[in-house]
This record gives sequence, structure tokens and C-alpha cells, in this order.
Amino acid sequence: MTDQTPAPVAPAAPAYAGPRRILSGIQASGALHLGNYLGALKRFTELQDTGAPLFVFVADMHAITVWQDPEKLTAQTREIAAAYLAAGLDPAKATIFPQSAVPAHAELAWIFNCVARLGWLDRMTQFKEKSGKHKERSSVGLYTYPVLQAADILLYKATEVPVGEDQKQHLELTRDIAAKFNNDFGAPGFFPQPEPLIQGPGTRVMSLRDGSAKMSKSDPSDLSRINLTDDADTIAAKIKKAKSDMDVLPDTVEGLDGRPEAKNLVAIYAALSDTTREAVLAEFGGQGFGSFKPKLAELAVTSMAPVTAEMRRLMADPAEIDRALAVGAERAREVAQPVVDEVKKIVGFWQG
Ligand code: AMP
Ligand code: TRP
Repeated sequence: MTDQTPAPVAPAAPAYAGPRRILSGIQASGALHLGNYLGALKRFTELQDTGAPLFVFVADMHAITVWQDPEKLTAQTREIAAAYLAAGLDPAKATIFPQSAVPAHAELAWIFNCVARLGWLDRMTQFKEKSGKHKERSSVGLYTYPVLQAADILLYKATEVPVGEDQKQHLELTRDIAAKFNNDFGAPGFFPQPEPLIQGPGTRVMSLRDGSAKMSKSDPSDLSRINLTDDADTIAAKIKKAKSDMDVLPDTVEGLDGRPEAKNLVAIYAALSDTTREAVLAEFGGQGFGSFKPKLAELAVTSMAPVTAEMRRLMADPAEIDRALAVGAERAREVAQPVVDEVKKIVGFWQG
């Protein structure tokens, strides 16, 4: 028995009684695409008007779990911030900041490294995928990546976390860490049990060249994705070249089964126009791709071109990005500091 921490208390611990807070982040590693926009950025923007405070950060500390060229890392951090702003996040409403500008993320992550168990991290599928065949050559940071993610979330006592399907397991680990901390230190209800928000047709956008592979920045074919830096002509051309099939669109969502490309293009249409796949099929059922694709291209251009144009404008004016990040970092520190101070007291660190 090496785990000498207290056994879990049997009766249900009192529930968290704090206010709603929404938080999410994107890693500062490379180009963003339509999948990131529909699965993350657009949803963050919708969540800034719910009445609950919204925290959105650039995960530069997570990015360095694999090697990053220092000069590029700074540019990538600004690029993610530019995407947040271009997608419509308003720095007056949402707190937008670089993770590394708030030292409390690292402080809380260390304490959580001492709460999480090796067995829990051994189960994380993202580490297995990212470390591949060379586990022993991966950084230790890559292994404890989900612990830092738990610190990101719980430092702000976030209650809701909008993420893609792939982050579900990390959210479960966050909940386990919160429960174990509250239990081990006799602080019932101190940390909340954050809920993942995974909804809508845009949570899993697939490649435009292969409906069974996720749209990804690591796909060697640029035609497989729409980049957030593509101009209107490029966006339209990529939709027109997107893989489809010879059949007409069905009348029902079930009719899309076994037709991954058709399913993906219909989901993209639904996500871009804030509707459901059912509604898209009610309009286009019975039509072939010869008529659907031009409509989708037009929709993609009218909704994406303003975002990609704004993104290019911001990238040419880093001072504007930096101003937004500085304001956000200040506000994030104000929220985070009292929480980490309290945690250090709970853990028994010297108070001076
Ligand atoms: P990543 O670029 O993988 O770090 O992901 C950043 C955010 O975008 C996360 O919330 C992901 O879940 C989301 N995301 C990434 N790829 C896709 C995709 N193909 N479809 C929907 N969401 C995605
Ligand atoms: N791991 C997340 C991703 O790859 C990024 C991330 C880091 C995150 N910390 C977070 C997401 C906290 C939500 C909350 O997409």
C-alpha cells in the first residue's frame, strides 16, 4: 500500500455552492482550421453572453510538452489570441490571456501532481497517442499534461468547460482530482465538479478529403481543411473540391449512415448556419452535390471570410493583440491568486 492519503469519506460530500464560471483553452501549437472554429472558437463566442464569466486562454505551457521553437511559440500564442478576437470574443466581456502569464497555473499543477495517482494518468489515451512507440523519450510534462489541465480549470473554480469530444477523459480526471483534493484535505465543496460542454453538429468536423478522419492540422493535404488564414477564393475552391459521393442527399439523418463525406458536409452546413442536420436535410434532401456544394461554398465564404480577414488584419497588428492579452492576464491573476492562496493554506504551506 503506497497510497497513504485518507480513504474517501463514505457519505456524499456537500456540493459546491459557488457561482457558474465557464473556461476553456486551446494549445499554442500551429495553424487553426474550420474544426477548431466550429468545435471551439464559435462556441466560446456564443458562451460570452450567458451571464456567467468566461475565461479563455492560450495554453502555451501545454504547447511546450513537445518541442517548440521559442520564436514560433510567441507567434503561435498571438495567432490563437487573434483567432479568439476574430471569432468574436470581446475582451471587455471575456477574460482572454496566455496561461504562462498567470504563475498560479504552475503552482496549482504541482500540488495536483501530488494528488493525482500514477494509475489515473496511465489510463490517459491522449498520452498514449502522442507518445507513440517512444514513451521513454517523451517529456515528463507530456505525461502530466492532464494534471496541468485540471489546474487550469480548477484554479478558476470553473463549473462548465466547452471542449471537443477528445477532451472528455481529461475532464473526468479533473473531476477525480477535485474530489480527491476536497476529500484528502477535509475541504468539502472547495473545488466544483466541472461539467464538459460537448454539443452541436460542430464537435467533430471531419477531413474534406476523407470523411472518416478528423480535420486536423497534422494532415499533410492542405485540401483536407479550411485554415483560418485562407481567403474567400481558397475557401470556395476547397469546398468545391471536397470529397462527396454520387447519390442525392437523403431526407433523414439516418440516411447519412455509411456516407461519411455526405454526413460531414451536412454537419458543416448545419454548424455554420446554427441549425440542425435535420433542418439542412429538410431543405436539401433529394438534391445532389452539384447543387448542394455551391450553396455550402457560399455559406462557408460568407461566414468564414470575415473571420479569416479579421485574423489576417490582427496578425499584422500584434500591438492590438498584446493589449487584449495584457488586460486579460491582469484580470485572470486577480481571480486566480485568492484561490491558490487558499489552496496553499489548506495544504499547510507556511503563511509567514
Ligand atoms: P487542438 O487543435 O487539437 O488543440 O484543439 C483545439 C480545440 O479545437 C479543442 O477544443 C478541440 O476539441 C477542437 N477541435 C480540434 N479539431 C477538431 C475537429 N476536427 N472538429 C471539432 N473540434 C475540433
Ligand atoms: N487539452 C486541450 C486541447 O488539446 C487544451 C486545454 C488545456 C484545455 N487546458 C485546458 C481545454 C483547460 C479546456 C480546459 O484541446
